[in-house]
Amino acid sequence: MSDHTIQSVSKESRVFEPPTDFAKKARVPTREAYDNLYRQSMEQPEEFWGEQARNLHWHKPFTKVLTWDAPHVKWFEDGKTNLAYNALDVHANGARRDKPALIWEGEPGDQRTFTYHELWRETCRFSNVLLSLGVSPGDRVAIYMGMVPEAAIAMLACARIGAVHTVIFGGFAAEAVRDRVNDAEAKLVITQDGAYRRGQLVVLKEHVDRALEHCPTVKSTIVLRRTHNPIDFKEGRDHEWSELMRNAKAEHEAPALDSEHPLYILYTSGTTGKPKGVLHTTGGYMVGTWLTTRDVFDIQDSDIYWCTADVGWVTGHSYIVYGPLLNGATALMYEGAPNHPDPSRFWQIIEKHKVTIFYTAPTAIRAFVRWGDDHVEKHDLSSLRLLGSVGEPINPEAWMWYRRVVGKDKCPIVDTWWQTETGAMMITPQPGAISTKPGSCTLPFYGVSPKIFREDGTEAGPNEGGLLVIDRPWPSMFRTVWRNEDRYLSYFEKFPGKYFTGDGARRDEDGYFWVIGRVDDVVNVAGHRLGTAEIESALVSHAAVAEAAVVARPDELTGSALVAFVTLKGNRSPSPELKIQLLDHVAQEIGKFARPAAIRFADALPKTRSGKIMRRLLKDLASGNTSQGDTTTLEDISVLAKIGTEE
Ligand code: PRX
Repeated sequence: MSDHTIQSVSKESRVFEPPTDFAKKARVPTREAYDNLYRQSMEQPEEFWGEQARNLHWHKPFTKVLTWDAPHVKWFEDGKTNLAYNALDVHANGARRDKPALIWEGEPGDQRTFTYHELWRETCRFSNVLLSLGVSPGDRVAIYMGMVPEAAIAMLACARIGAVHTVIFGGFAAEAVRDRVNDAEAKLVITQDGAYRRGQLVVLKEHVDRALEHCPTVKSTIVLRRTHNPIDFKEGRDHEWSELMRNAKAEHEAPALDSEHPLYILYTSGTTGKPKGVLHTTGGYMVGTWLTTRDVFDIQDSDIYWCTADVGWVTGHSYIVYGPLLNGATALMYEGAPNHPDPSRFWQIIEKHKVTIFYTAPTAIRAFVRWGDDHVEKHDLSSLRLLGSVGEPINPEAWMWYRRVVGKDKCPIVDTWWQTETGAMMITPQPGAISTKPGSCTLPFYGVSPKIFREDGTEAGPNEGGLLVIDRPWPSMFRTVWRNEDRYLSYFEKFPGKYFTGDGARRDEDGYFWVIGRVDDVVNVAGHRLGTAEIESALVSHAAVAEAAVVARPDELTGSALVAFVTLKGNRSPSPELKIQLLDHVAQEIGKFARPAAIRFADALPKTRSGKIMRRLLKDLASGNTSQGDTTTLEDISVLAKIGTEE
């Protein structure tokens, strides 16, 4: 990382003011209103957050707002609350009782709607199911499901009884499920027979069966029937969702949990070794997701809000389930792919459900651009009033297309920068208050103090690229890496006591942030955050492979694409069949979405004298750059010439 200089070449100068009509009705209607709130949050953080948090229900009010003993933080420490109570009970037993909480659209076209009262009752019932299977506060529960309402119900029920959920993205293979379940030492796995994805069946239960051969902590599973494919059922271990629910009471009183009670673990990729279990706790996360959802999405009671993320990623946690429900909003959840049965599916859903707020990822936007405007234009999207983007930098042209073709030049766009570790949005416009510039995530949210640092820890000047660091604690920040405190501490080592995000960025002359992307060996491929180290170790676990280095190259559609450089063991030689085998192997070990776009065989990898692989050179090779940069530290210059080109 230390040989990294960051150059930001973007010369974007377009500025879009918040539309007057939008601003007039917005929760934060002017730049001045935002500035005041932000100033207060910086000057008097404890008063600010204390006042905000009191908008939610506390079973026992807190007297202490913040305890910061860098890098450890506690928020609302002596308070007691219950996130599920705030997300459901307060609405279900009040004016929003019959308001839709969740509208669900299945990939085959089926539909279900849960009012707040219904979602509350289902969650209470499932809480009793969990209790009946012996799940206690603090126990870990793995949720390996597709995009079905029951995934949200399972998460909410865990939060309600104080069990710690760990949602495992349904695209992961059995081996990845096994590793996560074992790291979390989960007691219970909740899954489905199968899930629909682009018309295909994903055999989730089968993957669970394979994973559980090596998961000694798991005592039981709960299986939801969705696709009705035949599955094996292990007597004594496996339980039917529907049967358990039929026998469970719908009454459950939400217990008072400590503000710092662990809420969930979500595995995400890091630069080295295994995925890390990012741990979020209750009170601070609740306040952070509630307030960002309210002010960034400008949530109003009449909104139909749709976030297209998967519940297996943090965006699904914070902005499909927790944030919207805490606000009493109506959230839409879609089970399937954007191009099933055809590339107009998203637009058809927006028209059908009269979606008003649409939150998606740049990789999806670039795919829509490629599929053509016709698919968008043949649908009535006049219900839309706000668009959002998350997951990776959005290139200005994609931003402009989103604004023009989807938003018809009338919807503001919120480009929201944040991470699994931050729990909630960190740098983002507030749509009624902040002018936007295509490609910039604009200004910090309340209480967020981002800085651009040079390598030596001094602050970079305007428009000077550097490392994005957050130098104050915020309520929804992660509290540790599960059972790996050292990895938590490593985020605060480069700049002692300050959180280093792993991203490069610059701040322009107006104070706007432009995130350039990761500066470490973490890559974003089609919105999936992957550690190159994980893919390398998957490759090396194949019998033919001696060594592997995976780097990213820019890709028009997916943002980045992975290129794997592989050296083989002495007795093996490169072949097209072996390439396919290696790709299948990665799919098997991690999941199909992690398969490299290209594999290049090499006799040796370029290394420094101390044996460190020179990824910078491989990146140049992968991107087809002729300039090889500085090779003075390269041990054996001839290896570069021997690295095969791509067929
Ligand atoms: O590099 C940044 C990029 O996604 C990373 C975080 O990935 P993950 O933890 O999977 O969370 C994704 C959803 C919040 C960041 O370090 N990223 C996320 N949002 C943006 C972004 N890069 C630029 N602009 C964004 N709006």
